[in-house]
Amino acid sequence: MLRRPHHDQPDSFDFTPANRAWAEAQITKYPEGRQASAIIPLLWRAQEQEGWLSRPAIEYVADMLGLAHIRALEVASFYFMFQLKPVGSLAHIQVCGTTSCMICGAEDLVRVCREKIADKPHVLSGDGRFSWEEVECLGACSNAPMAQIGKDYYEDLTAERLSEILDELAAGKVPTPGPQTGRFSSEPLKGLTSLKEFESGHYAHNASVDLALAQDDTIKRIDGTETALITPWLDKGGADRPGTAARPEITNGSADRTGVTKQEAKAATPAKPPSKSVPAGQQADAVAEAEPETLDGPRAGATADDLKKISGVGPKLEATLNDLGFWHFDQIAAWGPAEIAWVDSRLRFKGRITRDDWVAQARELADQ
Ligand code: FES
Repeated sequence: MLRRPHHDQPDSFDFTPANRAWAEAQITKYPEGRQASAIIPLLWRAQEQEGWLSRPAIEYVADMLGLAHIRALEVASFYFMFQLKPVGSLAHIQVCGTTSCMICGAEDLVRVCREKIADKPHVLSGDGRFSWEEVECLGACSNAPMAQIGKDYYEDLTAERLSEILDELAAGKVPTPGPQTGRFSSEPLKGLTSLKEFESGHYAHNASVDLALAQDDTIKRIDGTETALITPWLDKGGADRPGTAARPEITNGSADRTGVTKQEAKAATPAKPPSKSVPAGQQADAVAEAEPETLDGPRAGATADDLKKISGVGPKLEATLNDLGFWHFDQIAAWGPAEIAWVDSRLRFKGRITRDDWVAQARELADQ
């Protein structure tokens, strides 16, 4: 299928302030010099906000990541999950048309979409509220036929049930996602053959459906205000996200029916060996800082080492290390825990020195 930007484009795009903050926080997940890797989550967020990806939105994301516009357009036009044309303002129905679903009635679902939405895929319904398309396998084959609507899966569908779901959506309701035949998840259609204690209504819904119902956001656009900014790597956010309320600490209850507690199971797992560059016994969180040997520039008669050869050090981090007075591998190779703590406290992202074991890497590079 030819995928190119829609002929009718808006003048501009801007993230909502909350989505902008979210996007900026996502970028911090990636190592220095690798921020372009955030392109898919950022494009996805732009699509969640607007429903589709306009050319200004693609270029806006490219600008945020310092990329040429064509690079972002390449990504957006490659992945079918990105919609390059406007979709229904209320819901876009993605009917799986791959083998299991086709055998089990996907063509009937497509017929419903043709009758109730538009004769062709990617065309808006008369009121502009719905659109549909046929997609490849969505990985719910044992609940075929199925369709994704907004963020959720509607499984074990029949033509009649899909038709009702469209009517419910049009009436402002959000139908309960998941299997539509009373099946709990993907257990055998004729009933359970094992784990039978879960049979008689043990739980009302499976975990995916429960979460969808708790968040109540199946077809809502995302403006960033519906969940807290989740940036645990920056020690921020997440406390009021659904499902993350403080949980009581697990005490010594059995982890399973073998009687092995979670604590015991954990203790039986071999401890991870300490980092090569931080001697055992010095792994405490708070290590007193000590300033390492620093230089004003490369040593006389020598050129600066290419610190980017250390995995995890990009051009910006190399410049920061130079500013701090580090120009040679042997300087970094000489750091102990106190020196690492000193340098770490001066970097924007903490913990990467030990995580990527810069000291061991520098030692090898210095010996070459
Ligand atoms: Fe439809 Fe896999 S074939 S979900």
